[in-house]
Amino acid sequence: MKARNRKGIRSAKDIHAGELAVRGGTPVRDELAKPWPAWPQPGEKEWRERIEPALKKVYLSGCEGLPHPAADAFAGRFAHYCGAAHGRMVASGTTAVAAALAAVLDLHAGDDAGEVILPDYTFIATASAAIDRGARLVFVDVDPRTFTMDPASFEAAIVPGRTRAVVPVHILGHPADMARITALANAHGIQVIEDAAQAHGAQCDLGRTGALGHAAAFSFQSSKNLTCGEGGLVTTSDPAIIDRVAAFMDVGRDPQGYRWDYPRLGWNYRPSEYLAALLNVRLDDLEGQIAHRARMAALLDERLAAIPGVTPPARGPWCRRHAYHLYAVLLDPAAFAGRSRDDIVAAVNAEGVPCSAGYREPLSATPALREHLRRHGDSFRAMPCPNARRICDHSLWFGQNLLLADEPDMNDIVAAVAKVQRAFAADPQRGHDGD
Ligand SMILES: Cc1ncc(COP(=O)(O)O)c(C=O)c1O
Repeated sequence: MKARNRKGIRSAKDIHAGELAVRGGTPVRDELAKPWPAWPQPGEKEWRERIEPALKKVYLSGCEGLPHPAADAFAGRFAHYCGAAHGRMVASGTTAVAAALAAVLDLHAGDDAGEVILPDYTFIATASAAIDRGARLVFVDVDPRTFTMDPASFEAAIVPGRTRAVVPVHILGHPADMARITALANAHGIQVIEDAAQAHGAQCDLGRTGALGHAAAFSFQSSKNLTCGEGGLVTTSDPAIIDRVAAFMDVGRDPQGYRWDYPRLGWNYRPSEYLAALLNVRLDDLEGQIAHRARMAALLDERLAAIPGVTPPARGPWCRRHAYHLYAVLLDPAAFAGRSRDDIVAAVNAEGVPCSAGYREPLSATPALREHLRRHGDSFRAMPCPNARRICDHSLWFGQNLLLADEPDMNDIVAAVAKVQRAFAADPQRGHDGD
């Protein structure tokens, strides 16, 4: 039976309390009446008082690009925030990973970068940026609770003489176990490049992300917790590395050299000054937003844990601060009467709570990488990665913007998940439309 008749009028049965919205019942949250916080958060007052003056300053300066004083000033400020000595803004997070790798390994165009180890649970750019720099990839498994690189799997993947770099990813905003990873890397002479694209302001026992390896890559793409639409940044405390990053992103120039000399091969991955001005304003808000997200995450942790089959995200003992780029729970399908994760996602979305499955495959299994392997037989290898597979099969992601809402909104998230779990457990056979 359909949930609504042709005129869209609900029957008494449809309004029955507890009926899933995906089956035509009333959603937990009316998203039109109560929209979730937008990301980024636009506002007339914000524009007038903070954004417009910052952009106007760039405009009136007459300098919108080279020699990028605003980008350099922001990069220095952000590096300092991370606890690193130097920063360089680039066009994207993907560029930042590639530039960091090239600079740390002192790669020239066409060089064989050797083997680079990375986790099998991450965004495609971690891999594609390394492939772009001539790396052969080695995928390793992740910790089953924090989803970050498993140091034991990393250690098992090391081949002396072949492994040149490791790229731990602070995935979803949770810092990787950098103490163990850097200890192993140091023991084997392996360079460490943090992929911190999702982890602005996260912290582990060694310090803040961006200052935990030889260099780190950040993204300011539109979904990120610090954004200017598109952009990236490399941090490091090694002056030689930052000079090589500068050459990589600015046609090979020596930042202290003559403009028309090109000591290295490089490309144009320079940012616009306007982007740096925007980031400079928004960096002022980052700490407050991190604290707010953490408070909301703690509420969710406590309340979602009470729902059968739902495991809230864990923090590793090394984690001092989770940046919550994403809030991810693990689902036990048995508690949802075996319903597919896609069904669960659709049902929670219909309750007015946006969520997604996130990465649905370990990176090494994606078509792009399978094709790369087919064409180039030695281009990558993968260690056994059962944890990455399980996480891909069972996770449910909520975006960081939801965590910028308040306690009653967190209760809507909990109510939606609880309602879906109860309904599926009670009535596993029914489809979405009540048929
Ligand atoms: C883990 C990770 N690495 C790298 C990137 C690449 O950043 P960008 O999209 O700015 O190129 C992203 C962005 O989504 C990411 O999540």
